[in-house]
Amino acid sequence: MKTVKLNNGIVMPAVGYGTYQTAPAQTTENVLQALRTGYRLIDTAQYYGNEAEVGEALTESGLLRDQVFVTTKVQTSGYAETKQGLDESLRRFNHDYFDLVIIHWPTGNDAETYRALEDAYHDGKVRAIGLSNFNADQVQEIIDGATVEPAIDQIETHLMWQQKRMHAYLTSRGMVHESYAPLGEGQPGFLDNPVLVKMAARYHVTPAQLTLRFMNQENIVVIPKTLNRKHMAENLDIFGFTIDQDDLRALEGLDQKRAIDGWPATMQEDQY
Ligand SMILES: NC(=O)c1ccc[n+]([C@@H]2O[C@H](COP(=O)([O-])OP(=O)(O)OC[C@H]3O[C@@H](n4cnc5c(N)ncnc54)[C@H](OP(=O)(O)O)[C@@H]3O)[C@@H](O)[C@H]2O)c1
Repeated sequence: MKTVKLNNGIVMPAVGYGTYQTAPAQTTENVLQALRTGYRLIDTAQYYGNEAEVGEALTESGLLRDQVFVTTKVQTSGYAETKQGLDESLRRFNHDYFDLVIIHWPTGNDAETYRALEDAYHDGKVRAIGLSNFNADQVQEIIDGATVEPAIDQIETHLMWQQKRMHAYLTSRGMVHESYAPLGEGQPGFLDNPVLVKMAARYHVTPAQLTLRFMNQENIVVIPKTLNRKHMAENLDIFGFTIDQDDLRALEGLDQKRAIDGWPATMQEDQY
């Protein structure tokens, strides 16, 4: 498994498994299958309601805790609520720590929310902390007040919205750019894009594999989600080919700076 190093030296897999909208009843089985397939990064959130089942799958897998990197996201606002919420997440997860905890989206009270993550970090409840859906100005505000610099920003990123500006900013701050919805949620116009389909055939891979490898070659961590076992294996198997420079440029040309549904408005590039 290829990895990236976070700003505190912690190593994180470059490809992970997303669990958004995976019902709790389906989560244990699917995460267990993902772990058996070879995934070592699992992405959950308080909002998804499946932290307990992710923890259960980890236990059932028989893997050691330090062999799997688990991210969760807090949706609380402010210090006290976040501290309590994170302790409840840990109880549900039923393991000693999370590898990464990020603020799911800005609420306006983010310095205080972030302070609770810093304390959890110092207390050993989490190995790295970061942000999600924060634009460059919002990330900078956190950095300016931080005692522990954020390691990551998890933001919507795919072929149709490559987040070039955020990527340059995050790289300049030593932060990792993590893509959510890397396959454009499988919506029409993404994996069936004719340029992508034609190029994928040339590399003897699927459009999903080409998309994920493209982001991987741009140093972006990806966390595709699937409930289909064939897709699960395919999305992890992206390191057997290298996209050449001309094709990378052609894929860059597909960028429309287009969010799937415009959320959150603050991420749109005219907002920062
Ligand atoms: N921080 C945030 O605010 C935020 C927001 C959204 C998502 N996320 C995280 O990012 C993860 C990924 O995003 P997402 O779940 O929204 O969307 P996604 O991973 O971009 O797309 C998932 C869709 O793609 C299809 N798919 C997956 N692999 C495929 C393949 N190889 N070939 C064809 N279709 C394929 C899936 O269908 P099948 O099941 O049929 O394969 C599903 O419909 C989430 O699960 C979550 O962990 C975070």
